[in-house]
Amino acid sequence: MPVTELFDIAGEAEQINLQLDKAGRLRHLLTLQGLDRQHLTDLLDDSEQYLSEGGKPVVRTDSLAGRTVANLFFEPSTRTRASFDLAAQRLGADVLNLDVNTSSRKKGESILDTIYTLQAMQIDVMVVRDAQTGVPAHIARHVNDFVSIINAGESDVSHPTQGLLDLLTIRRHKGRFDNLTVAIVGDIAHSRVARSASEGLATMGVRELRLISPESLAPDPGTVPPQAKIMHGLDEGVRGADVIMALRIQHERITNLDGIPGVDEYFASYGVTSERMKLAAPGAIVMHPGPMNRGIEIESKLADSESSVIKEQVRNGVAVRMAVLTAVIRSMSPK
Ligand code: CP
Repeated sequence: MPVTELFDIAGEAEQINLQLDKAGRLRHLLTLQGLDRQHLTDLLDDSEQYLSEGGKPVVRTDSLAGRTVANLFFEPSTRTRASFDLAAQRLGADVLNLDVNTSSRKKGESILDTIYTLQAMQIDVMVVRDAQTGVPAHIARHVNDFVSIINAGESDVSHPTQGLLDLLTIRRHKGRFDNLTVAIVGDIAHSRVARSASEGLATMGVRELRLISPESLAPDPGTVPPQAKIMHGLDEGVRGADVIMALRIQHERITNLDGIPGVDEYFASYGVTSERMKLAAPGAIVMHPGPMNRGIEIESKLADSESSVIKEQVRNGVAVRMAVLTAVIRSMSPK
């Protein structure tokens, strides 16, 4: 097993300093905090150029030819890892998918020694997912000037490319943010998806942001944007909402199940269903970052219905990751 390592946790200001260079360009992507509306809009606009209409060939370029992207996932992933892999390939980069289970971290090598080893192989971008808070910023502090770090999911605190793909999906359906009510439903307390989506939505000026959960899964108010409404009733939370995002319970981060409803009770009280969607605004969309637990946080037929944009979220994720990879490589090019 890898040794447990302790990391200094970067504060918000330090992470912002780490991730933007002096010209304000994206040097690393660690968090959506500190990225202003223009930064987010530029990334969403850049993502659009990598989307192709259904049935047409995917967009390919050789703009990152000669570059190497390493996927370092120290936690399980399907969507994020596959989409970074495809995004890098579609930009012409070489891709290394390190198999953590057979890597020398299992022999006790520290994460920084693993990073220095890969850096010596001239990796340009390291895409990092880890269960411990602080790991992406810790690595970003230690890599050389020719390596960028992208956070692909950090404990319960941050999942910035998921936040961006959620914003892109909402923008493509609704056109703007300032007239929207967005309801995020589920295990908000342990969800990095909820944190990054909330940060991005607040920056984009969403009209109303509702975070709905049982009391046992409610967020610490200090960890969510000040304008977010923490709520516990799903009917009230869904009423009039334009966007409803369902989240799974993050069992891997919960050590004490006291107060967490059982499956049937949870679905009855917090399951997003077709019946509940009748309370939402006309044309409301249903989102889910995946992986989904059908029949627990979302009704199966709703997940496959016309209101559901879940597959579009996945498709948009590749485009967003192409845009982010391009942006961080651009920041390493001569000004
Ligand atoms: N949404 C998300 O991060 O999915 P994966 O865990 O499959 O990457």
